[in-house]
Amino acid sequence: MTQLPGLLDTEAIRKDFPVLDRRVHDGKKLVYLDNAATSQTPRQVLDVLSEYYEQHNANVHRGVHVLAEEATALYEGARDKVAAFINAPSRDEVIFTKNASESLNLVANMLGWADEPYRVDSDTEIVITEMEHHSNIVPWQLLAQRTGAKLKWFGLTDDGRLDLSNLDEIITEKTKIVSFVLVSNILGTVNPVEAIVRRAQEVGALVCIDASQAAPHMPLDVQALQADFVAFTGHKMCGPTGIGVLWGRQELLEDLPPFLGGGEMIETVSMQSSTYAPAPHKFEAGTPPIAQAVGLGAAIDYLTSIGMDKVLAHEQALTEYAVKRLAEVADLRIIGPATAEERGAAISFTLGDIHPHDVGQVLDEQGIAVRVGHHCARPVCLRYGIPATTRASFYLYSSPAEVDALVDGLEHVRNFFG
Ligand code: ALA
Repeated sequence: MTQLPGLLDTEAIRKDFPVLDRRVHDGKKLVYLDNAATSQTPRQVLDVLSEYYEQHNANVHRGVHVLAEEATALYEGARDKVAAFINAPSRDEVIFTKNASESLNLVANMLGWADEPYRVDSDTEIVITEMEHHSNIVPWQLLAQRTGAKLKWFGLTDDGRLDLSNLDEIITEKTKIVSFVLVSNILGTVNPVEAIVRRAQEVGALVCIDASQAAPHMPLDVQALQADFVAFTGHKMCGPTGIGVLWGRQELLEDLPPFLGGGEMIETVSMQSSTYAPAPHKFEAGTPPIAQAVGLGAAIDYLTSIGMDKVLAHEQALTEYAVKRLAEVADLRIIGPATAEERGAAISFTLGDIHPHDVGQVLDEQGIAVRVGHHCARPVCLRYGIPATTRASFYLYSSPAEVDALVDGLEHVRNFFG
């Protein structure tokens, strides 16, 4: 068995994840390398979800009975766990949403409806990058179309990094918001936050960071990032689907208007008008994803018990190994940084002129699960002149043996297509 410095004891960790024992396609061992799309769920989280529904299920913030109080305590307890996990100065800065897309749409809509000094209008500019997931492109396109604001973006270098050579021309006095991904879901690139934040602060622009591919994989400290908003999702970090997070700086959340109206988010309502509850409730209209938030809290407990610094070290060692081994496959071209420096554990590639859908299908027949397509980041494929990529993405339970299985699988794909 390949041993690399920094690796976690994956044999022990894998015992926590029942699905990793699955056999597929007539008894082939499952090699799950689609973790950037969604991660698997450990027994510790599954148990908390079952216990929630078996023992505590009720609506939150509105009942006086035992179950309602327990459900509320569990839901708000999950908020405490998220706040500690991301080093938020206050638990009231943590808003629960249904996913990272909703978190990013929430920011765009807060700014669209805001008064000065936050208001985005036809005299202002919005800045994103060419490596964003569609969830950090489309909300800003919508905002630009609706307000007349100009949408600008940073391009990419040939090796899959952000091209910041025109930093001062892209982010200007007119910029209201800069929204960018911390770790690219398609390229794997880890972006240089500090340089972008410094320039944004110089011109008084707000900064929003999409941390969907960072929160599951590395220690995340919203204070160190110095952003104004940070968005991520639960299902990529051992939690359930249907739960996302938006962290925002308290004074902004106090000043900015709500987006969705309804129950839970009000202070008082008359037929003429309403006043709103303080943040975070102002931004959580309707019955929230209660069980999902509790499940995310359990996922955070799980990851914290392992240690996010150890998860990061594991993935860095594995990524270094994967990049080296993939270089041995003839005709394989990594789309994104070709070395392990400043890159995450999602590795996209093309294999000669074999279509990624064919690569994915032949890998699947061998039990190897990867994602193929544009990965909801189509502008990246356009930038590199390719229709799609195959993407292998690793997590804390991924092992060097699985990297080897991928490399062997790709050799089989090459032989299959002659
Ligand atoms: N955003 C997820 C991915 O990159 C779905 O696969």
